[in-house]
Formats: sequence, C-alpha cells, structure tokens
Amino acid sequence: MLLQSGLLPEPAANAVVLDNACGSGVLATILFNTVGVDSGVKVVCGDLAEVMVETASKRIQENNWNAEARIADAHQLPFPDDYFTHNLMNFGIQLVSNSELALKECFRVLQPGGKVGFTAWVHPGWVDDLKVALEGVELPAFGKSPWRTKESILNMLTPVGFTNVDVQPLVFEHRGKISTFVRYMGILFTKILVGENADKYSAYMTKKYGDGDFTSTWTAAIITADKP
Ligand SMILES: C[S@@+](CC[C@H](N)C(=O)[O-])C[C@H]1O[C@@H](n2cnc3c(N)ncnc32)[C@H](O)[C@@H]1O
Repeated sequence: MLLQSGLLPEPAANAVVLDNACGSGVLATILFNTVGVDSGVKVVCGDLAEVMVETASKRIQENNWNAEARIADAHQLPFPDDYFTHNLMNFGIQLVSNSELALKECFRVLQPGGKVGFTAWVHPGWVDDLKVALEGVELPAFGKSPWRTKESILNMLTPVGFTNVDVQPLVFEHRGKISTFVRYMGILFTKILVGENADKYSAYMTKKYGDGDFTSTWTAAIITADKP
C-alpha cells in the first residue's frame, strides 16, 4: 500500500500521512525504517483502542520519528478538512462498524489531490480456525466482504467522490507466536471473543498448534484512490 499510494520509494517532503486505525503503528514503522527520520514526512497514527495508541506512541518516542499517536475514531476523525496528503488504513476498514461513514471521513480529511489507501482481507489467515473453534456461534459473514471485488469496491468508493480506484491482489504469510496471535484476536474481536468463546478459541488454537510459532496464509486486496 505504501508503494501503491506513492509514499515509497520516495515520499514528497510535504507528505502528511494519517495511519488510520494504526494498531501498534506497523505502517509508520515500515515507512520510517525505509525513508529514515529526516525525510520530512509527518505521520499521525490514530486508533480507537487506547492500548494501540499507547504502543504506537512508545514506538514513536523510542525512534524519534516525526509522528504522533492519538485516539481517533475513524467514524469521526478529530482532524480538519483537507489536512492530509495520504490517509492509509491497513486492515482497518472491515473492522469499523459503519464503513460508509468511515469512507466519508477519509475523504473529508484528505487534501484535494490526496491519496487514500486500504488493505482489506479477502481470506484472512484466522478465519478458518475461528469458524471451527466457535462452531455453532453466529459469526459475521467473513467470506462475504464487499472488499473482495473491484466492482463492489468501486460501488463503495465512487459515491463518496474517490476517483482512479486501483485494486491489486496481495498474498502473504504471517508467522508469529500462537499466544500473541490469540491475544491480538481478542483485541480485534471484542464482541465475539469474550467469556466462554474466548476460552474455546484459545483452547482450540493451543491444541492445534501447540504454544510455539505458527504460520498462516492470507489473501488480501490493496486499494488506492484519489480525492480529485
Ligand atoms: C487489524 S488491526 C490493524 C492495525 C494496523 N493498521 C496494522 O496494520 O497492524 C485493526 C485496528 O482497527 C482499530 N479500529 C477498529 N475500529 C476502529 C475505529 N472505529 N476507529 C479507529 N480504529 C479502529 C482496532 O483498534 C485495531 O487496532
């Protein structure tokens, strides 16, 4: 997404980037690790979850990046109109409760000529295990996301005003500790993975993969578009 949005390989010196639904600050980390701290790029990391904002803030301070992290609900971004040159949401748009409103906010805070970018799961590496582990529990229709096809993506982005919609496929492997992964899932799915469901899921994953590392394959879409 950083390449597709034009921020890499070399960002414009006046780039002001919103890392929208930033989580622990993965995008900012990749960006600053690639372009260095003196590139002139400014990043604002925003997330709804306090724990994520704290983690991103810590990273920013430790690395001396030209960045800040703050609580920011994607449905009501605490930023003025026409502010950012880039508004990037890495695996966030499918988690907001009202994507239409979040898209309107993405548009509003972008400067004319600015770029919006999303990555969206087509088949996330966690979905099959979650369905088996919580068999019988009513889950959202993970496999029916409108973010899977260019046609439905155009139908969502065009009415908001975005143009030049570009959708590219992405396949990647995630490797990590099972305990960290299960904990992270609990942060993402606060409504599903609570109480008995959380225990069931954790027990299933530990039984299947042990308590070491595991690898999962993900397919996703990288989406970019312009605010004219
Ligand atoms: C799958 S994580 C991705 C985090 C990060 N972008 C990354 O690439 O690692 C999704 C993030 O969306 C955040 N989120 C969910 N709803 C949100 C909202 N309404 N406004 C802002 N952030 C939200 C969650 O707190 C979580 O950090």
